[in-house]
Amino acid sequence: MKQKRSQWASNLGFILAAAGSAVGLGNIWKFPGKVGANGGGAFILIYIIIVAVIGFPVMLAELAIGRGTQKNMVGAFRTLDKRWTFAGKIGIVTLFVIMSYYCVVGGWVLKYILVYITGAHFGGGTTQYQDYFVNFISDWAEPLAWDLLFLILCIYIVIKGVSQGIERVSKALMPCLFLLLIGIAIRSATLPGAKEGLKFMFTIEPADFNRDTFVAALGQAFFSLSVGMGILITYGSYVPRTENLVKSSAWICILDTLVAFLAAFAIIPAVFVTLGQEGLGMGGGFAFMVLPRVFASLPGGVVFGAVFFILLFFAALTSAISILESCVAYLEEEFGLHRFKAAVGLGAGMSILSAGYSLSQDPGRKINLPWFHFSSGIQMLPMNSVMEKFTDDLMIPLGALVFCIFTGWIWGSKNAAAEIEAGMETRFTLKSVWTFVIRFLAPGAIGVILYFTLWKGQGLS
Ligand code: PFF
Repeated sequence: MKQKRSQWASNLGFILAAAGSAVGLGNIWKFPGKVGANGGGAFILIYIIIVAVIGFPVMLAELAIGRGTQKNMVGAFRTLDKRWTFAGKIGIVTLFVIMSYYCVVGGWVLKYILVYITGAHFGGGTTQYQDYFVNFISDWAEPLAWDLLFLILCIYIVIKGVSQGIERVSKALMPCLFLLLIGIAIRSATLPGAKEGLKFMFTIEPADFNRDTFVAALGQAFFSLSVGMGILITYGSYVPRTENLVKSSAWICILDTLVAFLAAFAIIPAVFVTLGQEGLGMGGGFAFMVLPRVFASLPGGVVFGAVFFILLFFAALTSAISILESCVAYLEEEFGLHRFKAAVGLGAGMSILSAGYSLSQDPGRKINLPWFHFSSGIQMLPMNSVMEKFTDDLMIPLGALVFCIFTGWIWGSKNAAAEIEAGMETRFTLKSVWTFVIRFLAPGAIGVILYFTLWKGQGLS
């Protein structure tokens, strides 16, 4: 029944595909917002340390599980130890929720492409770009329509099979996104008044080394690297045993972190220029509120805007497809469901959650739609923050914790290290450090952070 698993054609192909999954809205829409909300320099420093010391080793562990078993994330755990099948299921639940809000933001990106292409006017006044965005997401119908369009696009591509096309296109476009971001970052950092923003990014306040910052940095690092959700188990299952997983993981971590930093450089100085420091309290969405202002200050800014949002759309699409594909592959392989049914069924479920996220963008919203008058004035749950916190602060760290314990203690760090070493020409020189991290340091650190999140009301409150 089981088909022979396909393999990546080349090492570079694998690194770019994994980087394509990693580089997405998390880098451009989420990262600068989290830097802003969590004290700037301190968050950035903690983020780098977490990527290097925890994210990178956990990524290696996931890839080793995938390559060792050649299975989807649930099948992989079942193969190694039946009692741990739940570990893969944690990943599926997390991905389902992430996909629901990913599509909403993907829809916003589509809308902005249209705005730039049609040359629609953002309005007047000093806060025109911000007002435009806030008005747009506070409406109920339009964002919902864009959200559904983005989701339908993903479903369509996944049903067709992740074609050579999308992978090839993203390979060509990712370097463009990178170059464009460098250009925008230089422009943003040289705007008059940008110094304040740069200072914010490089000033490390001791008071910001608190639990909230650690919780936020850990969740963001894992989300951004696509770690702790089983995606890399699936991707690892397509990697041939001749490949050096250590080198590949290092590249994926470096590329992903570079894009996140470039996005912060592109956005944070511009936030200070346009909205002032208080602007940082506005949460994510900076890309939509402040970058249009940066584009407007450039000659040919409309073209820049259109190109930027088109590239962002591709970055979002490649990540979203990897999420939906992993869930579909699970239903297909584990339940024998037809690809079409699996994708449409999952999409239908995701669209319901997605609608909740989209409708909750206006905190004062009452359920009072034209066709659904509920004039008692019940407020929608602030689902936007609940869903993001549920995945970033709880489910992703939980998944990563379970993966570490499994690799370090159940499958065994020796077996995992042997799998990692299989594709290396030299010895795995970091083996003892990696073993220590996977068995003790990573589970300990993630466990402590989860403890504070769950029992001390940090993060999820
Ligand atoms: N890493 C992606 C981003 O930063 O946007 C998001 C993502 C992709 C999360 C794939 C989860 C995943 F499985």
